[in-house]
Amino acid sequence: MNAERPTTSDAQARAGQATIAPGYMSGFGNGFETEALPGALPIGRNSPQKCPYGLYAEQLSGSPFTAPRATNERTWLYRIRPTVAHIGPFEQVDIGLWRTAPCHEVDVPIAPMRWSPVAMPTAPTSFVEGLRTITTAGDAGAQAGMGAHVYLVTRSMEHEYFYDADGELLFVPQSGGLRICTEFGLIEIEPGEIAVIPRGVKIRVELRDGPARGYLCENYGGAFTLPDRGPIGANCLANPRDFLTPLAAFEDTDDESRLFVKWGGVMWSTVLDHSPLDVVAWHGNYAPYKYDLRRYSPVGPVLFDHADPSIFTVLTSPSDTPGTANVDLVIFPDRWAVAENTFRPPWYHMNVMSEFMGLVYGQYEAKPHGFVPGGISLHNTMLPHGPDVDAFEKASSVELKPHRLEATMAFMFETRFMQRVTAYAAQAEERQREYQSYGRRLQKHFTPDRP
Ligand code: FE2
Repeated sequence: MNAERPTTSDAQARAGQATIAPGYMSGFGNGFETEALPGALPIGRNSPQKCPYGLYAEQLSGSPFTAPRATNERTWLYRIRPTVAHIGPFEQVDIGLWRTAPCHEVDVPIAPMRWSPVAMPTAPTSFVEGLRTITTAGDAGAQAGMGAHVYLVTRSMEHEYFYDADGELLFVPQSGGLRICTEFGLIEIEPGEIAVIPRGVKIRVELRDGPARGYLCENYGGAFTLPDRGPIGANCLANPRDFLTPLAAFEDTDDESRLFVKWGGVMWSTVLDHSPLDVVAWHGNYAPYKYDLRRYSPVGPVLFDHADPSIFTVLTSPSDTPGTANVDLVIFPDRWAVAENTFRPPWYHMNVMSEFMGLVYGQYEAKPHGFVPGGISLHNTMLPHGPDVDAFEKASSVELKPHRLEATMAFMFETRFMQRVTAYAAQAEERQREYQSYGRRLQKHFTPDRP
């Protein structure tokens, strides 16, 4: 395990300063242990009669107690106050444009859909306020499916905290960085990186360098894990050592604050007399993490033809059906294209899985025009899609030299469920209404007399 200590003192941490540089532990799904004060972590037992420093012990269970060992997830938190110590009852508050499956606001258009980047708001907008749902899929109450969102943030949360009881949160920054202060410690991400916050983990989202925009997958189903590699073997794709989980860092404040909870598709709020990010030590395997997508080691065809895009799966949320993902996170990073006598862009395609795509930076090879960084495309269940006419004409006649796809990072949230577009997304002025007919521009090339 490769652990890097925070750079500021325990005294600063105890004073509730949000200036600690994040430190991380390497590995995926490890049984981590970390303490921000020496001796804060009980040794050899989880729940001593009295915890060190007068802390409370609290277990956070991410799986049923009885889940098989390979999927059993829980963490023990040693905190200044237990989570139950909030002052008032929860009251329902405005959830803005955040929607949860099942959500049938509009009929699902039977067409490919695409959006230009959603414009940043001019008003001060926190992460909780700036969430806009584009699609929902499955049923959050049944712990199946996902919500695909865009987040727009122009102000840091101050004395405000949030947790999501409906799903795990996968952040994909596109413009501007985020500092996610979690109960488990600090995570900083920038475009090109991702972060995963497990269901129920409290966070405060701050800006790092100006307004931020990105994509968010709210995974209602099984926790994201690494896909099996099969014949690829023990290396490449996303390697476990490149996943980083924060070292413990805590806030000890008695300031009044507000906790928002998304629970059952409704936003609730209550008042606290302290920061809930007051975990001094923790151990377990249910914890947030970050990953740099540029460390993904792509594997692909080295002579001819295409492998399926599943070779680009970074993380997968399994369903109860083997091989059928609740959600996959798939990326299309920098890589070499070398296949001979091969149409190299993605092929024309219909798919039982539905595909929500975004572009972090660069250009996506199958859509050289109109799909720009910050944009979104949706190719829904069993709806045809593929390269546009410009991509086809070029790729089917170009001389096939080894070619490096440079400075590009597209991604896909791919789910087994049909995605339902929200009313907001259907009516958004960023929606490219002409996109649904891009396929009509493809020409007939059939030459019956000449093979
Ligand atoms: Fe596809």
